[in-house]
Amino acid sequence: MSQKKNNFYQKYFSELALSLARINKFITKENPSVGCVVTDFNNNILSSGVTSKNGRPHAENNALIKLNKKITKKIFVTLEPCNHYGKTPPCTKKIVNFNVKQLHCNQIDKNPAVNGSGLKFLKENKIKIKESNINKNFYSNYNYSVKNKLPYVTAKLAITKNFSTVVSGKKYFTNSKSLKFAHLLRYMNDSILIGQKTLLKDYPKLNCRIEGLSQHSPKIFFINRNLNFNKKHLLLYPRSTVVFHSSKDSKKISKYKKYFFLEKIEDNTGNFSPEEILKRIYKHKCRRLLIEGGSETVNIFAKNKYVNKFFFIQSEHNSKTKDPQTVNMVRSLCGNNFNRYNVKINLNNNKLFKI
Ligand SMILES: NC(=O)c1ccc[n+]([C@@H]2O[C@H](COP(=O)([O-])OP(=O)(O)OC[C@H]3O[C@@H](n4cnc5c(N)ncnc54)[C@H](OP(=O)(O)O)[C@@H]3O)[C@@H](O)[C@H]2O)c1
Repeated sequence: MSQKKNNFYQKYFSELALSLARINKFITKENPSVGCVVTDFNNNILSSGVTSKNGRPHAENNALIKLNKKITKKIFVTLEPCNHYGKTPPCTKKIVNFNVKQLHCNQIDKNPAVNGSGLKFLKENKIKIKESNINKNFYSNYNYSVKNKLPYVTAKLAITKNFSTVVSGKKYFTNSKSLKFAHLLRYMNDSILIGQKTLLKDYPKLNCRIEGLSQHSPKIFFINRNLNFNKKHLLLYPRSTVVFHSSKDSKKISKYKKYFFLEKIEDNTGNFSPEEILKRIYKHKCRRLLIEGGSETVNIFAKNKYVNKFFFIQSEHNSKTKDPQTVNMVRSLCGNNFNRYNVKINLNNNKLFKI
């Protein structure tokens, strides 16, 4: 086969592996979603796999397990295979045992437990390694999270034309498209956080209400310093909900610990440190956090530079309520060029819509 034709196949199989990785991208818990294609040396596809829901078994295992060990193979993966014993044996061992002679890999796994050791092991076992160079951004959130041991943070706020996050008397002031987008963000993130004023005023359900995806709703976190709840909250949120508080009221603690997972944070310095909150969310095995407001909570994380990505969903109407905090936050992020930034999703046909 000519070199040109071979290069074409290699690019094609690497892209196919990436398409497979996309399928489970947001549902593999703390593991990255990996795609894997196995071929013979005549470029016939033998098998394929993707990281299973909840992260295990891994893609390489899923693809190789169906195959005859004797046939020599090429393998195309979107991320370096793991090389450490976790809940499953390392994929590198399986690759060697299944007679793979060539591995095409798109990216080194930045997880310190792997970080090049997988490729090194494979080279030592006489497997030829080739770089694929397909989409280097695919794992950028994962890379941030494993490197910093913090979740990758997305903040979403609905704002009026004059940058207020509150319109008196209205819970929603954008439209059906923006609400659907909010639910998509809930699916794409494994955790969600709100401040106590939003909790007490809005009672947001915080789950993903897109048909077929509701089982992938994010884990809920509240910042609620004094454990202020009422009966409605106790019925609305699951037992797995985590509440960050600093209450010393033992009566409240013993009452609410029956309903939620309470985590005490010292607040000698005023607000809880955003880094401390993020570290704790990471310990709960959450890697992508959505902060859904209100603006005071988002602002604390933004000022400390812990928000990786913003979505401001702007309505076309002004609010009578002034919100200098949000105005300043948007200005500091976007300067006077708000219109040029892709953080803005401008919605035509703006109607109030409840789901
Ligand atoms: N437009 C939107 O997208 C949107 C989204 C959500 C909510 N809202 C609206 O916004 C309003 C509420 O937002 P808000 O900005 O006033 O308040 P908020 O962000 O919901 O809650 C702020 C409160 O949470 C606590 N908190 C937040 N970060 C903390 C930290 N790092 N350490 C300790 N405590 C922390 C503080 O409670 P303490 O009082 O105990 O200090 C703070 O006063 C509501 O009217 C709601 O309807 C709009």
